[in-house]
Amino acid sequence: YGTQTTNQAGHLSIGGVDTLELAHEYGTPLVVYDVALIKQRIAEFKQVFEAAGVAYKVTYASKAFTAIAMYQLLAEQGVGCDVVSGGEIYTAQQAGFPLATASFHGNNKSAAELEYAVTAGVGTIVLDNFHEIDLLNDILTTQDKTIDVLLRISPGISAHTHEYIMTGQEDSKFGFDLKSGQATTAFEKVQALPRLNLRGVHCHIGSQIFETKGFEMAAEAMIALLAQWQQQGFTAQVLNLGGGFGVRYTAEDQPLAPQDYVRDIVKIVKNQAAAAQLPLPEIWIEPGRSMVAEAGTSLYTIGSRKDLPGIRHYLAVDGGMGDNIRPALYEAKYTAVLANAPEAEPVETVSIAGKYCESGDMLVWDLPLPQSKPGDVLAMFVTGAYGYSMASNYNRNPRPAVVFVENGQARLVIKRETYADMAHLDVNESPSHL
Ligand code: LLP
Repeated sequence: YGTQTTNQAGHLSIGGVDTLELAHEYGTPLVVYDVALIKQRIAEFKQVFEAAGVAYKVTYASKAFTAIAMYQLLAEQGVGCDVVSGGEIYTAQQAGFPLATASFHGNNKSAAELEYAVTAGVGTIVLDNFHEIDLLNDILTTQDKTIDVLLRISPGISAHTHEYIMTGQEDSKFGFDLKSGQATTAFEKVQALPRLNLRGVHCHIGSQIFETKGFEMAAEAMIALLAQWQQQGFTAQVLNLGGGFGVRYTAEDQPLAPQDYVRDIVKIVKNQAAAAQLPLPEIWIEPGRSMVAEAGTSLYTIGSRKDLPGIRHYLAVDGGMGDNIRPALYEAKYTAVLANAPEAEPVETVSIAGKYCESGDMLVWDLPLPQSKPGDVLAMFVTGAYGYSMASNYNRNPRPAVVFVENGQARLVIKRETYADMAHLDVNESPSHL
């Protein structure tokens, strides 16, 4: 992936930096991001739109991985972002990110979060439900402001992916349902509120999607809806088809190249808008995973092992479900190599266990690996999306550090958490008998 190579010392190198040196300098577990690969993805997405000559916006779904440095990278590369909480807005604000290019998502944004978004200058609110329309309108009335909005539509399409990460199907907590007419009721309600500047619609059908069929069906449903609203005198300026482009975690995964999803989407929207005699809206996409997953590699130090002859060899590392819950939560598959011998021939099949007190805390099952010993560094690939961002302090293990590497340079972007960091919210009122 990206700039990964085996260097002269025979070690895995990323961004021109030796991963063993990174492990030595910053400790493990460590998440390493290949900045050049993130930039390449962004450039590829933009290139598709530029080549097609259509108006567009690429917004990165912050939830996949966020940090001040990430927002700064996005700003520098001229992409917007979607935020889903006050915390993401805050982090973007700390980064000096131009919030006018941000969209605020969520199925239960609080009044405080909406107020914060309006005050901070978030550009677009993606309205999800009727309660939120009222909340936002009240806030805008109080602040005497207007704001751009999109309506999130639940198009009733199931993308073939893990059921926990499907979002566009009919029975979903997100958005205004299309089939029962909620979408049009919401449209009429928003149109009657002059402080809400309706610019178009949004839908997101799921995540880790391998085919374009779902996007085609979603685009078709959205265009049909917009054509109907056009009859009611409304011309949509924006059609946001969300994210969800799949990535290759292991050889079993066969996604399209990230830009090919976008190429198909542009073609489909163009054709369908023309067929419906609809002016072509701006096409917005919201990739999260496809922008950062492959750019991320997790480094762990190998510790203990447990050999069950004829059954399994467990090899334990110093991280696990606290820094990457995806295997435990979604049965997600990953692959890994020894950072000191990435190309050595495997001599055994091991299963990589985490250090957390839970049997389900496994990172990789049945991984062919060369001979390893305690202290060796394991590099697990494609961990850049929904790893750190879903990290926890389970068992009071500190969350890992994160570094950006590029052109032979490494830069710490998130410090390793300390024990004190984890205890600092605890109220320590010693009872008198202690
Ligand atoms: N837009 C919206 C409205 C979303 O809900 C999401 C993801 C995205 C964009 C970005 O989707 P992506 O391009 O990253 O697939 N934690 C799960 C994934 C949850 C995705 C939630 N929404 C995982 O680790 O697989």
